[in-house]
Amino acid sequence: MAMKKMEGQGDHDLNCLTIDELEKHAYNMMDKQTRDYYNEGADSGSTLRENIEAFGKYRIRPRVLRDVSNVDTSKDIFGHKNSIPMGVAPTAMQRLAHSDGELGTARACKKAKVAMGLSSFATTTLEDVAEANGDNPHVLQLYLFESREHSHKLIQRAKKAGYKAVFLTVDTPFLGRRNLEIRNQFKLPPHFKIANFAEDEEPAMGDEQTSNSPNQARQRKPKEASKAGYHDGEKRVLPTGPITFHSHASNPTLCWEKDIEWLKQECCPEMEVWVKGIATGEDAILAVHHGVSGIVVSNHGGRQLNGALATLDALPEVVEAVQGKIPVHVDGGIRHGTDIFKALALGADFCWVGRPALWGLAYKGQAGVELMLRLLSDEFKLCMGLAGVTRVQDISKEYLVKVSISMRDRKV
Ligand code: FNR
Ligand code: LAC
Repeated sequence: MAMKKMEGQGDHDLNCLTIDELEKHAYNMMDKQTRDYYNEGADSGSTLRENIEAFGKYRIRPRVLRDVSNVDTSKDIFGHKNSIPMGVAPTAMQRLAHSDGELGTARACKKAKVAMGLSSFATTTLEDVAEANGDNPHVLQLYLFESREHSHKLIQRAKKAGYKAVFLTVDTPFLGRRNLEIRNQFKLPPHFKIANFAEDEEPAMGDEQTSNSPNQARQRKPKEASKAGYHDGEKRVLPTGPITFHSHASNPTLCWEKDIEWLKQECCPEMEVWVKGIATGEDAILAVHHGVSGIVVSNHGGRQLNGALATLDALPEVVEAVQGKIPVHVDGGIRHGTDIFKALALGADFCWVGRPALWGLAYKGQAGVELMLRLLSDEFKLCMGLAGVTRVQDISKEYLVKVSISMRDRKV
């Protein structure tokens, strides 16, 4: 890595000084299938774009002459001191980007003291990620399956491995329509595994090494193709076959009354239950009512309902509805340290970044994720100092003004 250290300027990768540059490098490092899967949004991608552009509707009102010689960017989360009010959001199948995969992300997060979210659909087991992440806080993103025994097992394993919370993804009653994914007939290449469920898979015909004897293996059924669940007009037919995100992740039967209560009983007290994918004040009130420990305002990085509000635009109504009763986090479109500042000024307690971590992995594995975290941390710290704020809890709406143009500031 072309690194340069200059007096007072820290370490830089001179080829990659911004998340925009990281995105460009990653673009060239990934194969088309992976790049399209990671980068695209649902349908026309307008929500994905608006998540990013929404930050450009706000400008910062800096205050001066306040002695900003000691800026503290840290923020407590799950009883730990996180170095900045930001974590790495759960994104599926990270080994597609680089062989370091989720372990690279975990090690980078641990080094940077940044919380990590692990996807249910990781290509590394939750136990291995927990070990790599050490006592740095990690949370498990949960797709609550229709066949509860898979989710039950996963939750018990996460408890044992020391996960602080499950983030139940609630914006996926169906998977959004991602046209590049469809055109590429995207699926996980066979040399990777959806690691958390690998042991749940029925051994297929010919899998001698997983059977007691070759004869026994020959008697087993051939591996059936995965099939999504559906309603046949009279009853619900459950997903079948090996667990893939296309067939098993979405679950249109989930509802507040039965599922949140079930999940709390499964998880608590060892792990908190959060909901990820709240986009309205009404649902935020329901989340509080049903006793979840926190909310992530998210539209899945624009991969689900295209045409939904940008998360930064949905954030104020959620903050207003929650009235400080539980923490409100946000993800979507964060590409610069000033974006973190703006989200906090609008009332978020904490932010998560998705794609930038994948781009970091694609660029240089663990070192690339470290770089991504360093860039956002440095930018955030500088933003706080230049805005005249020395403590995260002092970032408030007085530091923001909405302007009428909706271009991102860096593109103006
Ligand atoms: C995701 N996201 C996601 N969310 C989730 O709850 N479970 C998952 O398995 C995944 N997988 C996933 C894969 C990929 C390739 C992407 C890009 C995103 C959504 C993720 O947690 C987060 O909400 C968004 O990525 C945030 O938006 P940005 O930061 O990517 O703009
Ligand atoms: C995705 C799923 C796995 O967004 O959450 O691709």
